[in-house]
Amino acid sequence: VSDAPALDVLLPSALAGRQLPPVDDEAELLDLYAEGLPTDGRTHVRANMVATLDGASTGADRVSGSINGPADYRAFEVLRALADVVLIGAGTARAEGYRDVSVAVPLRPGRRARGLADSIELAVVSAGGDLPEELLTGSRPPLVLTGSGCPRLGRLRDVLPADRLLVVPGTGAGEVDLPAAVAALTGLGLSRVLTEGGPTLLGRLVAAGLVDELCLTWSPLLVGGTAVRTTNVPGWFAPPRPASPVSLLHADGVLLGRWRLHPGTPA
Ligand SMILES: NC(=O)c1ccc[n+]([C@@H]2O[C@H](COP(=O)([O-])OP(=O)(O)OC[C@H]3O[C@@H](n4cnc5c(N)ncnc54)[C@H](OP(=O)(O)O)[C@@H]3O)[C@@H](O)[C@H]2O)c1
Repeated sequence: VSDAPALDVLLPSALAGRQLPPVDDEAELLDLYAEGLPTDGRTHVRANMVATLDGASTGADRVSGSINGPADYRAFEVLRALADVVLIGAGTARAEGYRDVSVAVPLRPGRRARGLADSIELAVVSAGGDLPEELLTGSRPPLVLTGSGCPRLGRLRDVLPADRLLVVPGTGAGEVDLPAAVAALTGLGLSRVLTEGGPTLLGRLVAAGLVDELCLTWSPLLVGGTAVRTTNVPGWFAPPRPASPVSLLHADGVLLGRWRLHPGTPA
């Protein structure tokens, strides 16, 4: 983390004015992002996303790597260190080339101290089951959550160890019921869920009332173009989901927000 910038704390007001320089174990940043998380095995779903100032979830190259940077990466690593499982949609797995995920070694003591295992799981939700070969056949394949109507269920059964394939109740054609998917993860002891998107999965999770917290980075960029927003669902959230700021950090024009989402009745 030595090249990473120090983060200025803007919120919470009790810590405003402090600077968090990059340190190997990120102890203070872990404390900040761990504050308020359940420690009793209750399910908690946190989302981590990045957007430009004009609301895009990717740059012109259609991946988020072109709109994030070292400040965001500090929070990204810390959020992983506080999660049992990273949950992504198959679109993100395909576009971003996800493989096995891990927690940086210097962050592991802070992770252990909070009762988390050294290793973190990756879980991918897919209806169609069209997932990259290299992802499925790696040394530690992800948990794949799909429905019984998935057209590639046979292939998934062939390539994945049985305990990595979770066939979850759903609405047909491989779509899974997201509350059932999150419950299945909790049933495996993976109750601290970090979703890294993408926009379709996040929109559906929010619509289902499943997201407790949103960590959103604003990159000081405008990109125009046709990239979707960080939630990409056709329906409006009704009522709109209100959120309260928990923390706001700054470095080099990048703003890192942590928001608690309030429960609402999904439309
Ligand atoms: N700005 C950011 O922070 C950020 C974060 C992540 C990704 N991205 C970008 O977002 C883009 C990908 O967007 P996206 O919306 O396609 O990604 P996504 O939400 O990761 O993937 C959507 C796919 O997830 C699966 N899925 C979602 N809900 C499901 C359900 N209930 N049941 C079964 N499967 C379900 C489906 O997979 P199948 O198609 O396999 O059926 C669906 O097509 C990429 O360009 C990526 O770079 C940006």
